Amino acid sequence: MREKPAQEVAKEAILAIHSQVGEGKVLCALSGGVDSTVTAVLVHKAIAERLQCIYVDTGLMREGETQAVAQMFARFNIPLEVVDARERFMKQLAGVTDPETKRKRIGAEFISVFEEAAARFSDVAFLAQGTILSDVVESRPSHGGAPVKSHHNVGGLPERMKLKLVEPLKNLFKDEVRELGKHLGLEAAFVERQPFPGPGLAVRVLGEVTKSKLAVLRKADAIVQEEVAHLEHKPWQVFAVLLPVQSVGVVRERRTYCQTLALRAVESEDGMTAKPTHLPWSFLDCVSQRLLAEVEGINRVVLDISSKPPSTIEWE
Ligand code: XMP
Repeated sequence: MREKPAQEVAKEAILAIHSQVGEGKVLCALSGGVDSTVTAVLVHKAIAERLQCIYVDTGLMREGETQAVAQMFARFNIPLEVVDARERFMKQLAGVTDPETKRKRIGAEFISVFEEAAARFSDVAFLAQGTILSDVVESRPSHGGAPVKSHHNVGGLPERMKLKLVEPLKNLFKDEVRELGKHLGLEAAFVERQPFPGPGLAVRVLGEVTKSKLAVLRKADAIVQEEVAHLEHKPWQVFAVLLPVQSVGVVRERRTYCQTLALRAVESEDGMTAKPTHLPWSFLDCVSQRLLAEVEGINRVVLDISSKPPSTIEWE
C-alpha cells in the first residue's frame, strides 16, 4: 500500500459509496478481473442487495472464466446476471484488423449488450465501474495526441444510460486494489491473479479475430497458465499472443505453414512501466514443447523481451 492501510481505504470507500448513492440502486459491470470484483464487493458491503451485477460473456475470455465468475459471486451472495453475447461480439469483430477499431467496437458492443440487460432492472441511477488509476491516465490523450489505448472500462456507458458513475478504485494503483481485495475477504489466489485486459483475448489475436483463432489462443493460454502455476516466481503478467505471421515447419516429414505464438511475461508495479521477466530456460523449453505438441495451428513459439516503454504490455 502506498499511503493508507487497506482497512482505512475500505472504510472510506464504503462511506463514500453510501453518501453518493443514498437509497439508490447500483448496477455493476463485471469483467471477472480483480478490479471489477473488488468494486462489486465494496459496493455490496455498502448497499447490499441494492447492487445488481451484470457479466457480459463476450466470448473473448480465458478458458473456464465465465463459470468461475458465476461460482465466485454465488459464494459471495452477490446478485449476478450472466449475458451470453458471444455471437454479437464475433459479428462486430468480423473483418476488423486495426487495434483501436477493435477496442472501440468491443467497447460499443459492450455498452449495447449492457444497456439491454440493464433495462430489465428498474430505478437504477448509478453504475459502478472498476476503473483504476492507470486506466484513467492511459485513456487520456498523451501530450495533446491520441490516447495510448482506449481502455474499454472508461467507455461511454454512463452518459448514454444517464447513470452516475461510482468508481471507488479511481485513485488506486493495482497493488493497492489487491491489498484492498484481500482485506475484503477475496481469496489470495484470486486477488493475486494477473491483470486481464477489458477487450480480452481480442487484443492478443493480432489482426482479424475469428472463432478458430480464439480457440487456438485460448488453448495456448491455458497451457501457459498451467505451466506458470509450477513456477516458484510467478511473473506479474504472463500470456500468449497469436501473431498473424505464418512460417514453414515440418511434422513427420510433411511441410506445415502455420501461425506463430509469442510469449510475453513482464514484471511491473502498476502496468504503467514493465520489464521482461527472466523466465527459467527449463520453463520456456517445457512450455514451448507443450504448445507445439498440443495446440493445432501453430508451429513456432517466440519470446517477447521488450520493456514498457517503448513497448506496451499488450500487443494491441
Ligand atoms: P498496456 O498494454 O497498455 O497494458 O501496457 C497495461 C496493463 O493494462 C492492461 N490492459 C487493460 N486493462 N482494460 C483493462 O482493464 C483495457 O482495455 C486494458 N488494456 C490493457 C494490460 O493487460 C496491462 O496489465
